[in-house]
Amino acid sequence: MSKKSIFYKYPQLYIWGLNWIHGTNFAKRYQYMTSFAKKGDLVLEPACGPAILANFLPKGFLYSGFDTNEEFLSYALERGLNVRLGNVLEPNCYYPADVVVVCDVLHHLKPDERKRFIKNCFSATKRVFVICEPGKKEETGSGLIYSLKRCLAEWSEKDGTSDFKVEYFSTRHQLLDQIECGFEVIPPSIKRETKDFGEDIITVFFKDIK
Ligand SMILES: C[S@@+](CC[C@H](N)C(=O)[O-])C[C@H]1O[C@@H](n2cnc3c(N)ncnc32)[C@H](O)[C@@H]1O
Repeated sequence: MSKKSIFYKYPQLYIWGLNWIHGTNFAKRYQYMTSFAKKGDLVLEPACGPAILANFLPKGFLYSGFDTNEEFLSYALERGLNVRLGNVLEPNCYYPADVVVVCDVLHHLKPDERKRFIKNCFSATKRVFVICEPGKKEETGSGLIYSLKRCLAEWSEKDGTSDFKVEYFSTRHQLLDQIECGFEVIPPSIKRETKDFGEDIITVFFKDIK
């Protein structure tokens, strides 16, 4: 197990940080992602973190999440949410859900783990699969400021699972290519739509269009 930055040790700090980074898009992203659930649906969130998404589901929806971060899980459990310990790479941590939502997870996985992750999520999806991921600006550089920014990003994104590298972020162009090819998992016949929220791209895959 590798180290965690303070944001991944203290859930409230993580939530404040996210709020500060996203500004008005903080709530808009979660509102949009939950808008695809219908009353009575089960919404599954792999790598749920402190389960912020659950706050945006009105009463009458079932929410379930899993994550490897025990501090985040304790925070969600104290709020009475249905979360548990689980690894997104293990198929047996998943179960069928009407809507599967993943938010800000892809860049926390090594590139060679991502296909397995998407396959697990899409297999568990009955109706709609929603994925939100930042598409970063193309940034090449050198010098002190560039190195400091890189160190800060690598330190703050340490979630305790593996050592994060800045290269794990996709550029906007790379992300759009991955979406177009369904992350090499989701067939082209599956209807999809994308929407921008600041630098984030949210893609919705409609597995069952009925
Ligand atoms: C940026 S946070 C996103 C959390 C949440 N989805 C949200 O919207 O706030 C990334 C999360 O991925 C989790 N994570 C990373 N690798 C994981 C893995 N292999 N299995 C389960 N969770 C993982 C981390 O513990 C962390 O909570």
